[in-house]
Amino acid sequence: MSQNDIFSAALDAIADPVSGRGLVESGRAAAPRVNGETASVILDVSGLSGDARAQIERAIRGKLTGLGGVREVRVAMTAEKPSRRILAIGSGKGGVGKSTLSANLAVSLARAGIRTGLIDADIYGPSQPRLMGSEGIKPTAEDKKLIPVQTAFGVPMLSMGQMVKPGQAIAWRGPMAGGALGQLVDAEWGDAELLVVDMPPGTGDVQLNMIQKHRPAGALIVSTPQDLALIDAARAIDLFRQADVPIVGLVENMAGYACPHCGEISDPFGAGGAEAAAREMEIPFLGRIPLDIAIRRASDAGFPPAAEDGPQGAAFAEIAAQLIRSLSLRAG
Ligand SMILES: Nc1ncnc2c1ncn2[C@@H]1O[C@H](COP(=O)(O)OP(=O)(O)O)[C@@H](O)[C@H]1O
Ligand SMILES: [Mg+2]
Repeated sequence: MSQNDIFSAALDAIADPVSGRGLVESGRAAAPRVNGETASVILDVSGLSGDARAQIERAIRGKLTGLGGVREVRVAMTAEKPSRRILAIGSGKGGVGKSTLSANLAVSLARAGIRTGLIDADIYGPSQPRLMGSEGIKPTAEDKKLIPVQTAFGVPMLSMGQMVKPGQAIAWRGPMAGGALGQLVDAEWGDAELLVVDMPPGTGDVQLNMIQKHRPAGALIVSTPQDLALIDAARAIDLFRQADVPIVGLVENMAGYACPHCGEISDPFGAGGAEAAAREMEIPFLGRIPLDIAIRRASDAGFPPAAEDGPQGAAFAEIAAQLIRSLSLRAG
């Protein structure tokens, strides 16, 4: 047996708590590197509790110390970053319903079984704490990591609005906003597989930081039926396209008017404009959300209408179903 084999065999005599097989055989540890009296082991601690990590570390020291004259054992722990993807919700201008859509799509995705977190990255007008009924609740931190606020709708949430006092954010310079965004993205999201990010309107520092540093898996663009909003939307689409972020689609919000009495949808501004524009820009059209007083009322009261069945919930659920397909998300 070579020295290498002897050290590997010693590690394989320790069982990986997850698979039950030896540490090297299971891929939990690489074959130790021995240099003089020092042995170094790289241990992948993904999915292990703090207790289990400490226990394995002690076992490794116990097995290797003294073996082949080794007096010092160094254990380096690494953890695989969970494969979590980001969906950026953007628009060319404010007031088109980005935040409303972000909140309700996150809730619809969670109801469909997708582990979803929600980030409010709009420093100029953070609105997710209000939309998700958790105003005034501050996130806590552990090991310098933020712990998202649990909402009543199965979607953990963090907002730029929780990072600053009201009225202060506007004075932030780009780098500060970038740092805060990083803290939100790298927070303790647990096993969330998707982060829905409510972006600020337009094409500023936060957008560039998001695109360059956090590489969204896709961007969804919100527009209203008015032409002007669509021209702005095209600008937002360009920004993501230039950075090779796939546009998962365009959603037309405040499309048509839902009669508060009978629910019938009428189209005071005409219909089909956004769909035609999406076709022209060669991006998928994901659907329309009508201008509906029930959506506004529920949103203002901190209850995303997507949290319950009904015509409003169904409209968001349909868009969520398309997102699940185009991002190949799996419920679990
Ligand atoms: N489909 C809709 N029907 C009725 N009101 C809506 C709808 N979408 C958004 N709103 C309202 O319009 C306003 C702006 O929406 P918001 O989501 O805050 O836009 P943005 O985040 O793009 O600035 C809010 O008062 C919201 O309640
Ligand atoms: Mg907003």
